[in-house]
Amino acid sequence: MENQDKDYVRIFDTTLRDGEQCPGAAMSENEKLEIAHLLAKMKVDIIEAGFPVSSPVQFQAVERISREVDGPVIAGLARAMQGDIESAAKALKSARKKRIHTFIASSPIHMKHKLGKKPDEVLKMAIEAVKIARDFVEDVEFSPEDGTRSEWEFLREICEAVIEAGATTINVPDTVGYTTPEKYGELFSFLKNNVRGADGIIFSAHCHNDLGLATANSLSAVKNGARQVECTINGIGERAGNTAMEEVAMALRTRKDFFSIATRIDTTLIARASHLVKTITGMVVQPNKAIVGSNAFAHESGIHQDGVIKNRETYEIMTPQSIGLESNRMILGRHSGRAGFKDRIIRMGYNPGQEELESAYTRFLEIADKKKEIFDEDIAALFADENRKSKTDRFLLTYFHISTGSTTVPSATIKLKVDDVQIEESSTGDGPVDAVFKAIAKAAHISPELSKLVISPVTEGQDALAEASVTLSHKGKLVVGKASSTDILEATALSFVNALNRL
Ligand code: KIV
Ligand code: ZN
Repeated sequence: MENQDKDYVRIFDTTLRDGEQCPGAAMSENEKLEIAHLLAKMKVDIIEAGFPVSSPVQFQAVERISREVDGPVIAGLARAMQGDIESAAKALKSARKKRIHTFIASSPIHMKHKLGKKPDEVLKMAIEAVKIARDFVEDVEFSPEDGTRSEWEFLREICEAVIEAGATTINVPDTVGYTTPEKYGELFSFLKNNVRGADGIIFSAHCHNDLGLATANSLSAVKNGARQVECTINGIGERAGNTAMEEVAMALRTRKDFFSIATRIDTTLIARASHLVKTITGMVVQPNKAIVGSNAFAHESGIHQDGVIKNRETYEIMTPQSIGLESNRMILGRHSGRAGFKDRIIRMGYNPGQEELESAYTRFLEIADKKKEIFDEDIAALFADENRKSKTDRFLLTYFHISTGSTTVPSATIKLKVDDVQIEESSTGDGPVDAVFKAIAKAAHISPELSKLVISPVTEGQDALAEASVTLSHKGKLVVGKASSTDILEATALSFVNALNRL
C-alpha cells in the first residue's frame, strides 16, 4: 500500500501554534483540544501544540494536549534558550511521543537587528539549545529562522553543527514568504548534498504565503528531498498565512504521478477540519480557496456542467468525497432517541461524559424542534458550543427580545446572569445587532469595541444553523466569541456573551 511506504511526507501541523499566532485566531484550551483530536484522527504525524513559555494559557494547552491526544508526536516550540526549552519539556512531559522544536534566526538582517548577535554567537546558541533539548527528549527539531534569507554557507554550517549536537529534524523556514519554488527547491538540494549527516535526519519545509507561493514552495522542497511539511488547516497563520495542509495533502495525492510520494493523511477529514478551524477561529475561508472553498467543487457554467455530467473527469481532478464532502448525511431528527444520538456522536469521534452527553442531547432536541434534518455538521457545531462553555463563565444570557423594522428604531431587551445575579437591560441601536450588543454590554458593565462579526451557515437550507463569530477588542486585547443557533440574532447575541466570558 502506497501510504505504508517508509518514504513518505510527514505532515507537521502548526495550526495551534503558527496558525493561532495571527490576530484574532486565539483559541481556548478546549477548542485547541478539539482541533488536536481531529488532527490525530486525520493521522497528522506531528502536532505543534503551542509555544509553552509564551504564556500560562499556552503552557496549559500543550500540557493538556500531551496528556489527552494519542497518536501523533506532540511538539512544543522553544527559542534557543534554556528557560524556553525547559518549559517545553515540562509541558510535553505526559506526551507518549514528544518533540522539542527550537529555533534561532540565522539571516544577517535578523542576527544584526533582532538578536544583536554575531553569527558565531548564534551558532553557539543553536548547538547549546539542541544539546539541552536532547537532555529531555530524543526527537529534536531545529529551525534557522528566516532560513531563506540566510547565507547558504552559514546554513550549511549551522545544520551540520546542530545535527552533531543531536537534532533529528531540520526545518528551513521561509519566515517572511520571500522565496520562490525554484530557489527553495535548490536550497533543499544544496543542504541535502552538502550537509554532513544529512542522510540521518529529516529536512522540513515551513512556508509563509506572503507572495501566494507557500504551497508551491513546500511542494518544490518535497521534490528536492524534504520529507516533512509544516502547515496549517485553511492556511491560517501570520500575515498572509502558512502553507495550507489540505493543499499539500491533495496535491501529493492527486499528482502522485509527478511527486511519487504521499502523506499518511486521511484526506476524507479535510472538509470537517476546515469547517472546525473556521468556526473556532472565526477566520472565513474565501469561496474560491483551493480544496476547501465553497466553490472548489462547484461547476457553474453550462459547458462545465455538461462535461461533468458526461464524464466527471472532464473538469474535475479530485472528487468532493476525497475530502469528505457530501458526508453531511441526514442522520437524526426530532424523533431520534438518546441511544441513536449517542451512537451517532460516538461514531463521529466524540466521547462525552454523562453530564456532557445529557446537556448535548437537550441542546440537540432544542435544535431538532426548529430544524427538520440534523446533519453531522450540526452536531459538530453543537459540540463546539458545549466545548466553549466553561465553569468559570461569569455571564449567561437567559432571555432576549429584539424589535426592528423599516420604520422603527431597533431596540433590544435582554436578561443576563452576571455571577448568578439576574440583570435586565434594554438599549436601542443603529440596527438589531448593535442594540443587543449595547444591552448586553450595559448589563455586563464592559464596553468593548466590536471589531468583526462573521455569520456563516453550518449546512445548506433555509432552516440551517447559523454560526456567529464575533471579535471584540478591549484594553488592547482581542478576543473571539462564537455560538450557533437557528436564529441569526440569537447566535450573534450568544457569541457576544461567549466573547465577554473569554475577556
Ligand atoms: O516562520 C517561522 O520562521 C517560524 C519558526 C518559529 C519555525 O514559525
Ligand atoms: Zn512560521
